[in-house]
Amino acid sequence: MNFMDNQSQDMPAIIAIGSGKGGVGKSVIAASMGVGFAMLKRKTVVVDADFGGSNLHQIIGIPKPAYTYRDFQSGQVNTLNDIIVDHHQFDNLGLIFGAAGSYGMANEKYFNRQKFIKQLKNIHAEFVVVDLGAGSSFQVLDLFSAADLGIVVMNPEPLSLSESFNFVKQVVIRNLSNTIRKFTEVQTYVQDHAKTETFRSNTRVFDLLGQIAEKHQDVADQMKTCLDMLQIGLILNRVTADEQAVEVEAFQKALRELLSVDTEFLGIIHDNKIVPDAVLDGIPFIAKDSKAVPSRDLANLIIMKVLHRKHFHAFWDKMSLKKRIGEEDFQRKKVICSVNCMYWDECKYRQGGYPCKLQYMAEMGFQGEE
Ligand SMILES: Nc1ncnc2c1ncn2[C@@H]1O[C@H](COP(=O)(O)OP(=O)(O)O)[C@@H](O)[C@H]1O
Ligand SMILES: [Mg+2]
Repeated sequence: MNFMDNQSQDMPAIIAIGSGKGGVGKSVIAASMGVGFAMLKRKTVVVDADFGGSNLHQIIGIPKPAYTYRDFQSGQVNTLNDIIVDHHQFDNLGLIFGAAGSYGMANEKYFNRQKFIKQLKNIHAEFVVVDLGAGSSFQVLDLFSAADLGIVVMNPEPLSLSESFNFVKQVVIRNLSNTIRKFTEVQTYVQDHAKTETFRSNTRVFDLLGQIAEKHQDVADQMKTCLDMLQIGLILNRVTADEQAVEVEAFQKALRELLSVDTEFLGIIHDNKIVPDAVLDGIPFIAKDSKAVPSRDLANLIIMKVLHRKHFHAFWDKMSLKKRIGEEDFQRKKVICSVNCMYWDECKYRQGGYPCKLQYMAEMGFQGEE
């Protein structure tokens, strides 16, 4: 299917996948998440936005993509829709490849980043999954913040957790800085405080907002709203023992207490040899074996946590266009039980043509059975 022939009138929900550290599994998860949506008949485009370290084409098994981001950047085409490459196996999956070794994007100015974000919103699909580069350049932070759902992928090791904490901290600082840019007095106050040692080590965002509120209640309110609008989900990847999930609870508590940010734990993905094997084969792991443990983990996460989100269109709010997703849209995002589901042949609750029962149960707090 050609994405250009099937223009969706709605904007896609953008899911950006980031992390402080490289090598934690962002790209393999982005690719398999795209395949997972496509398997559930949801039109999806996966975008390799790890400019400079692009490797999505290798994970997908397309060594020389027909188009890459370079064709867009050079002005040969006008929109990102023009460089979508249809996946050879999955009808509902399109891909936008970065140009391997192209550093141009990392240096683009703020304006162009905003243009890129707008272009992402114009992609003709229901979901756009953006695989971000490692680190916390402004480009990464802005793409992550603009997404309807920003997912932080982390591993259970302490280094990965601390890098992830720093990543979210950078996201928070970037968003707060953008909010106070217009308010010179507050900006000077924050900058002066940022220079002091106590601020760097001890100050909680909550306290900072309190201090600002003493003189500028309206600005403090805007800063709080800006933080409340961040939609951050967490995935713990490469789990070897289920108890490791406790780390995420501690991590969430630290984010809440120190940065005043609420996050949603989307789930774990187990460490399993199928993942590197699939990379070698050039097949996203969920497509290589949808019954393997990491594939089930991811499918569960997609169906239970991602597809039934009610606030996918946070971007509209962020752009002050005040369009809220209605009940009708919410219904549209439900998974319909069908023979196309990768677990049809073994699901106890299957009832073809009706909304997925497991998904309903998830809303009621049902966590699946083992
Ligand atoms: N759940 C997992 N089990 C085993 N290996 C994994 C898992 N997730 C990722 N890996 C391995 O980690 C490596 C890095 O993954 P990648 O997605 O390229 O990381 P990133 O995009 O964050 O830099 C890959 O070679 C992949 O095989
Ligand atoms: Mg990567």
